[in-house]
Amino acid sequence: MSQGKFSEQVLAFAHAPSLDELPEVVDVKRSVPVNPPEQTQMKFVGLSYEAAYAEAESFVAVADQFAAKHGPGSFADLSHIVDFGSGWGRITRTLLLRVAPTKLHAVDVDSEMTALVNTTLPGVNALTVAPQPPTVLGHASIDAGLAFSVFSHLSGPAHEAWAEEFGRIVAPGGAVAITVLDTSFFAKVAGAQAAVRAGNADAFASALSTTFADLDAAQSGYAAGEIQYAGSGGGEIRTGDYYGWAVAPPAYIERVWGAAGFRIVEWVPAETLFPQALVFLVRGDQATPMSARSLTQRARPAGSIQTTARRVAGKVRREIGPRLGGLRRRLRDVLDERAKKR
Ligand SMILES: C[S@@+](CC[C@H](N)C(=O)[O-])C[C@H]1O[C@@H](n2cnc3c(N)ncnc32)[C@H](O)[C@@H]1O
Repeated sequence: MSQGKFSEQVLAFAHAPSLDELPEVVDVKRSVPVNPPEQTQMKFVGLSYEAAYAEAESFVAVADQFAAKHGPGSFADLSHIVDFGSGWGRITRTLLLRVAPTKLHAVDVDSEMTALVNTTLPGVNALTVAPQPPTVLGHASIDAGLAFSVFSHLSGPAHEAWAEEFGRIVAPGGAVAITVLDTSFFAKVAGAQAAVRAGNADAFASALSTTFADLDAAQSGYAAGEIQYAGSGGGEIRTGDYYGWAVAPPAYIERVWGAAGFRIVEWVPAETLFPQALVFLVRGDQATPMSARSLTQRARPAGSIQTTARRVAGKVRREIGPRLGGLRRRLRDVLDERAKKR
């Protein structure tokens, strides 16, 4: 403690300079926000400036159209949208043309990126999360989620955990747009391996050639409906135990996201709109009970998922059903009592 009435820390806070005016909430239509350094843009999306924003603009436009067609409605009419794995914020910036900052949640595992969003896009809800869920976002609190080039990097367990978390936070009828690597990625790896053999590989091809050293095995696993993951890591907090290159077949997406309560309504193959496939998923109207989701998530073959889901549904009916009946009877009695008194 200092000699006076206040601690040194209180005095330090109190004597810091004051702002001349309050920071303004971002309004991209009025003035465009500053960009992060080009190096940061490239590191996160392999593109910068016009090319990076053009991709973001297409992704948001297509996802918005799909949301209007299959999901909860146009983004402009929604209340809570998550940009999952928001990075330096190009998708969030693009969303800001349609949605108010307070309706946007920019979620990333990298606190430098959420600090960047806080600074360059003030007013957006930037949230740093752990590599594995849960988030602090409420049950059924989100209308739509977008994740560009995020699930294409997550390991099987991380992918499955985040699909389940989306099942928890997205409201029935809500939607999620994700991108994934599909079978065309194997051709890229084969090309990189050939370039290495020919001695003309650049740095990216050299790194790519080391993923899926046994390409035949990876392709067989993919054909069998299993995610193929190479844990290369992505720098800093993006460690190889959950982050690398992930190639996910449609059967896997259907199984994992189906167990989380979603169905695939659009699948645009890789190299059509983007280098990655775009998958648009809609949350079923019925909230899936958490216990049922956890059980079905672990069960792999489709047949056993259905069996487990049926078993859990039966158990829930047996255990909760009689109690619900009792509650209904009590409620009827109370209403009858009230009616008699009137
Ligand atoms: C390839 S970048 C894409 C960034 C952004 N979606 C875009 O297209 O501009 C992947 C982003 O996902 C984030 N990420 C990786 N794993 C994550 C996790 N488990 N939870 C949340 N964000 C994650 C990374 O930190 C990174 O910002």
